[in-house]
Amino acid sequence: MSRYRRHVFVCINERPKGHPKGCCREKGGEAVRDALKVELGSRGLAKAVRANNAGCLDACAFGVTMVIYPEQIWYGGVTPADVPEIVEKTIVHGEVIERLLIKEPEYRPTAMQFPRLEP
Ligand code: FES
Repeated sequence: MSRYRRHVFVCINERPKGHPKGCCREKGGEAVRDALKVELGSRGLAKAVRANNAGCLDACAFGVTMVIYPEQIWYGGVTPADVPEIVEKTIVHGEVIERLLIKEPEYRPTAMQFPRLEP
């Protein structure tokens, strides 16, 4: 078995103030990453799911951007308040949260099969 069942990348990229693309750091990427680490740790999932910092994921308009591998679930506009729901529904129960999915076709999951994470 691989070391981690899933990797969750959270963009914390920073750009200069006023940059036309903006950046996930100014939208709270670090707070989302921190909330994810706390939530995974408190649920005993830190050895099964890796929370990773990411540079720009090229989805800046949708930040804070998060992508979950290997299923390629792209979430946008993520806030720390969304993190418990993401862990409970998506990470643990394998449910995609439609409201958080980035709606552009190129970010849609290619395989909607998302197996439940067994403890
Ligand atoms: S700055 Fe976060 S996706 Fe580009």
